[in-house]
Amino acid sequence: MNAQQRGITRIGAVLSMAVMLPSVAVAADSCVECHKQWESGSSDPTQVIDQDVHFQRGLSCADCHGGDPKATEAEAAMDKAQGFLGRPARQDIPQLCARCHAEPTYMRKYNPNLPTDQYAKYLTSQHGKRNSQGDSDVAVCTSCHQAHGIRSKKDPFSPVYAANIPGTCAECHSNAALMDRHGLPVNQHWDYAQSVHGQALLVRGDRGAPHCASCHGSHEASKPGTIAIGNVCAQCHGLTRDLFAKSPHKAAHDALGLPECEVCHGNHLIKKPTDDMLGTGSGAVCISCHEPGSKGYQSAQQMRETIEQLKAQILNGEAVVKQAAELGMDMGDAEYALHDANTKLTQTRTYVHAFSPEAMQAPAQEGLHGAQQAEQEGKNAIHEFQFRRQGLWLTLLILILLVGGLLLVIREMESPPKSRR
Ligand code: HEC
Ligand code: HEC
Ligand code: HEC
Ligand code: HEC
Ligand code: HEC
Ligand code: HEC
Ligand code: HEC
Ligand code: HEC
Ligand code: HEC
Repeated sequence: MNAQQRGITRIGAVLSMAVMLPSVAVAADSCVECHKQWESGSSDPTQVIDQDVHFQRGLSCADCHGGDPKATEAEAAMDKAQGFLGRPARQDIPQLCARCHAEPTYMRKYNPNLPTDQYAKYLTSQHGKRNSQGDSDVAVCTSCHQAHGIRSKKDPFSPVYAANIPGTCAECHSNAALMDRHGLPVNQHWDYAQSVHGQALLVRGDRGAPHCASCHGSHEASKPGTIAIGNVCAQCHGLTRDLFAKSPHKAAHDALGLPECEVCHGNHLIKKPTDDMLGTGSGAVCISCHEPGSKGYQSAQQMRETIEQLKAQILNGEAVVKQAAELGMDMGDAEYALHDANTKLTQTRTYVHAFSPEAMQAPAQEGLHGAQQAEQEGKNAIHEFQFRRQGLWLTLLILILLVGGLLLVIREMESPPKSRR
């Protein structure tokens, strides 16, 4: 017996007890009024109508469930002959929602900006495909949106509000018993929550950081597949992807069937990269493919050296400029130049993705130049300070000599002339 049949039997049993069924006096919306009396607790759909977008737009129970909201008697209100659906079977829910949400002419009357492609996309997702095959484990519309109390995605209490999405997906994807049946791991949410992305969105509330649906799609949710991963990341890391696409690695990844960014960064547990990832040291990702002595190995080493050289120059510059500033010299310009050099360092790290030691040189040289200039300005300032200090001592010495001389002259004038004695 499927859920639909179960529903029919249940309502049949209820209707056969017609004498015991309540009725309502007025019929503005008998569904709401009677159910308010009949049901209680958190599962009562009437408790959440104030927050439901459908009710806010003047829709009600019968718009989803059918039946006659003007009828005061339960049998008449929930008459199958009047199109009452009862509790929709899980498998049929997407079609039920699609009755409106896939109808552009209908939806436009309410909100011309709301896309009407959710159902079409859903059918292409792994969830949708498995649902059509009768798999009741996969997500249907109400798994992610709930059936009652449906909120807009902009509402912070909605299960599909950006920061709530990982938790919504995790209700199933972190459920080991459920995922075992489908041969899927359950680490995605755990890993994601610790990643740069998860920390940015879940801890710091950075709405620019991706959630599960940014990478997988919401209605069309599926695995990106090896080829598409670069496109997924490129939504936000455009320059990095452009550099990669023009690099010698692009052809190599395509030929070997390797995912573009995932090979070095992973997918869910993406950590903040460090310079140690680059080069030929033990933490470097490059040595897993490039043998010592090969061109790629040498290039990796060279690329790391470029970064280390720039970092060292910036450190030098910073130390000298700090010293000068502590002596009270105005270091505004040099500090700005150092800030600029740090930006170039960040750019140089991005240019790692060109996978060419030469391509990294443009931003690296600019940064190097800026940091050298700042260091020189700092040195000049310290020199000037020392010069001024020496000048100060000299002036002081002259002053002391002058004052001493003056005192001598005064004493000379005040003392009684020896000749008069
Ligand atoms: C006069 C009272 C009354 C009215 C009016 C009424 N209902 Fe019900 N409804 C009930 C009762 C009682 C049940 C059975 C509750 C249960 O089994 O938990 C029920 C069950 C349901 C169910 C669940 C069916 C199932 O298969 O589990 C749905 C859906 C439903 N009503 C929707 C509606 C809609 C839509 C309307 C308005 C068109 C409506 N009801 C009007 C009393 C009413
Ligand atoms: C946006 C469409 C929609 C609206 C509006 C709606 N329902 Fe439902 N309702 C559903 C769906 C879908 C299910 C099946 C949920 C499931 O199986 O997970 C359902 C299930 C139910 C059930 C079965 C028990 C349960 O809670 O799952 C009852 C009873 C019910 N609805 C009553 C109502 C009443 C009363 C109203 C009006 C206050 C209402 N519904 C408004 C879509 C809707
Ligand atoms: C796997 C979870 C999931 C399923 C299943 C799902 N949705 Fe969504 N839905 C989301 C997420 C996440 C968002 C918000 C992000 C977005 O717009 O992609 C959303 C947004 C929406 C929106 C607002 C769209 C907009 O652009 O403002 C509508 C309407 C909607 N869903 C309807 C549906 C319907 C109808 C179904 C079933 C055919 C469905 N959803 C199935 C997760 C889901
Ligand atoms: C009778 C038509 C109808 C049915 C059936 C229906 N909806 Fe809606 N839905 C609407 C309308 C109208 C709106 C309001 C659009 C607006 O004003 O933005 C809406 C809004 C929504 C929104 C909010 C979109 C946003 O982010 O602004 C979601 C989510 C949603 N519906 C999901 C569902 C789901 C899930 C189902 C099935 C359980 C469903 N709807 C069934 C008509 C319907
Ligand atoms: C109601 C439970 C449920 C919810 C909620 C759910 N999923 Fe799923 N999802 C599943 C199941 C079960 C499968 C496995 C289907 C199969 O056997 O291929 C699956 C499959 C997937 C796959 C395909 C995996 C593969 O190896 O092909 C992706 C990607 C996915 N889900 C992403 C999401 C995202 C993103 C969300 C949240 C927006 C989400 N899911 C919400 C149950 C759910
Ligand atoms: C930064 C992008 C990104 C984010 C965010 C992300 N994923 Fe993934 N996910 C991927 C990639 C890439 C794969 C590997 C796909 C492939 O090999 O085709 C993957 C694979 C999967 C799979 C297939 C099984 C597996 O683990 O390999 C599931 C299920 C899945 N993700 C669910 C989720 C869920 C749930 C979330 C949120 C908690 C999430 N993903 C967040 C990019 C992402
Ligand atoms: C929706 C936009 C978005 C998508 C899609 C996205 N990212 Fe990110 N990514 C960000 C944001 C925003 C940050 C900065 C987070 C922070 O402030 O720490 C970031 C940070 C990073 C970082 C750390 C950078 C640093 O300097 O700390 C790496 C590495 C990264 N992402 C790789 C990826 C990869 C690989 C993918 C694809 C699998 C991807 N991202 C998909 C937005 C995105
Ligand atoms: C998944 C394996 C893999 C990883 C990891 C990898 N490479 Fe490569 N790389 C290749 C392949 C394959 C080629 C093309 C064949 C060749 O030239 O060796 C290539 C080519 C190159 C080239 C062009 C060859 C040249 O010097 O003219 C450079 C530069 C390069 N890689 C640098 C790096 C750096 C730097 C890292 C670490 C950040 C790295 N690679 C990590 C597989 C990899
Ligand atoms: C062959 C290995 C490799 C591949 C493939 C790769 N990266 Fe990187 N990525 C690195 C290394 C190494 C660093 C650290 C550079 C450093 O800090 O010195 C890095 C740093 C980053 C950073 C932080 C620095 C910055 O650019 O802001 C981001 C973001 C990033 N990668 C994104 C991506 C994206 C997106 C892709 C796919 C288009 C990708 N990476 C492909 C090795 C790789």
